[in-house]
Amino acid sequence: MLRQAFYGLILSMICYLLFHGYTKLGLNYHFKKHYPGECRQVTGLDYGSEHMEVTQDGLAFITSGVDFPCTSEKYHSFIREKNIRGTIFLYDFKNPKLGASALRFQPSKTFDPATFQPHGISLLEDKAKGEHLLYVVNHVRHGKDRVEKFKFIPRVNELQHLRFFNDSKFLILNDVALIGEDKFYASNYLFFESHFLSFLEHVLPLPLGGLLLVDGNHVTEVVKSLHGPNGVILSKDKRHLYVAIPMEGTMHVYETQKDNGLKLVQDVPEVIRLPLSNGLVDHEKITELFYDHGDLISASSVAHIHSGQLLIGSVIDKLVVCDLFGKVVGKKAGKV
Ligand SMILES: *[C@@H]1O[C@H](CO)[C@@H](O)[C@H](O)[C@H]1NC(C)=O
Repeated sequence: MLRQAFYGLILSMICYLLFHGYTKLGLNYHFKKHYPGECRQVTGLDYGSEHMEVTQDGLAFITSGVDFPCTSEKYHSFIREKNIRGTIFLYDFKNPKLGASALRFQPSKTFDPATFQPHGISLLEDKAKGEHLLYVVNHVRHGKDRVEKFKFIPRVNELQHLRFFNDSKFLILNDVALIGEDKFYASNYLFFESHFLSFLEHVLPLPLGGLLLVDGNHVTEVVKSLHGPNGVILSKDKRHLYVAIPMEGTMHVYETQKDNGLKLVQDVPEVIRLPLSNGLVDHEKITELFYDHGDLISASSVAHIHSGQLLIGSVIDKLVVCDLFGKVVGKKAGKV
């Protein structure tokens, strides 16, 4: 009797936690389809555009073909079946007719394109020569996560591999945000590599992730105990770091300190476009620009606005671009 009551208790706890995880994933919500303008799929890119970074003059660098140990067996087989290669695509907002094209890698002894599984990306612009530096999270196939540093060679549309960063503090990484050359924040996304354990880490609140500061070969953990920190981005003046925590449906805003430490100053519900005032998010002006039922794109992961176009990426689907109607941008979204 006592034993049954005990099992009953355990079972109801598991149900509660799973339901809690389910509501956090947003699976219980129903959304209305709406577009901010005329939208279409971008040609040339079929399987994934997880993260992207855009230069001031409208060159978007997009990572594609993400896979890592904790994704499901079904996902791994999809990647293998379709023979999906980890790639960085280029899309020019000023020349949208060209679509997206894969950048070639120059041969390198320290980088093997065949094991490249890119995820988050951050760039340092070179305004003089256009030889931008790209830092990209790589879930090396059958290896440990590292961050690759490339130089973009615009004349030939190639990437030259310069070096990589690795450290025993790197778990399953997600994204990087550059402070300067060879100095960046990285999000330690998940602790467990196994699909099942990382699923539990996801749905139970197991805060085993964190934020790292990488300075050359020196790595320190600057924020501990986060629950699956995902995309990270620094404000233009580098005073604030924005960290998406999708499992909690929130975004953390940190103030960067003199020693590059991080101080949490705000915690806001997640959304697509965040209006800023004085580096902090203005709740009143939050907008939702795009939502559809998977007709054009499913599970969008990243979006960017430039030259009147909204470019939307997804984990394992097409890239979509919308011409924005002037008025819709900045208009408050209806309740979803
Ligand atoms: C980093 O990479 C080097 C070269 O491949 C390797 O010798 C070293 O063990 C790696 N360090 C970690 C912590 O994985």
